[in-house]
Amino acid sequence: MPHQPYVIDEMISAKSIAARVEALAREITLAFAGTDKLIVVGLLRGSFVFIADLVRELDLPVEVDFLEASSYGDAMTSSREVRILKDLRGEIAGRDVLVVEDIVDTGFTLMHVVNLLRSRGPKRLEVCALLDKPSRREVDIRATWTGFEIPDEFVVGYGIDFAQRNRNLPHIGKVRFTDAPAAAAAGAAPAAVQPG
Ligand code: IMP
Ligand code: MG
Repeated sequence: MPHQPYVIDEMISAKSIAARVEALAREITLAFAGTDKLIVVGLLRGSFVFIADLVRELDLPVEVDFLEASSYGDAMTSSREVRILKDLRGEIAGRDVLVVEDIVDTGFTLMHVVNLLRSRGPKRLEVCALLDKPSRREVDIRATWTGFEIPDEFVVGYGIDFAQRNRNLPHIGKVRFTDAPAAAAAGAAPAAVQPG
């Protein structure tokens, strides 16, 4: 776990995110038109900001549930081993389900979650991911809807963290390590990385 100082360079502005979320919500609303209820499953914790914005743009009857899968811990690389830390509260058998993920990286997390949820017999299950890093993919999986494809950079903000920090940044930025102390970008957390 590096304890180097870093700055955050803006990659996707809050305005661009808002416009994209609106467009995604329009597509999802159309795709699930006529549903009696859409169960929107947010993958904790990284999707909490995205899901909050997305559900408010959906013109559908919606129920919100959450699932927590083990993630990177405080490291910057995938463990490739996925565990369910918190399961859904509700049943999804026979229901329309939308899984909302922050980033699809190697794809291990999404693959595991989708297989698990499919085994419960939903009527329909689709995935909306805010970000996708296609160049990092190790298993063959894609979200039905993707907000933005991004290069192989470690990103934070809009719910996404680095060692639990920077989730409250309103835009998405990439982490850039520096040797110089604390020349943090506007809105960024103090530069030194703390252990989780
Ligand atoms: P995967 O299993 O490798 O696809 O990893 C997916 C999870 O890793 C995402 O849900 C994120 O929580 C985390 N992750 C992947 N890339 C980043 C990143 O750039 N910043 C922060 N978290 C990331
Ligand atoms: Mg995640």
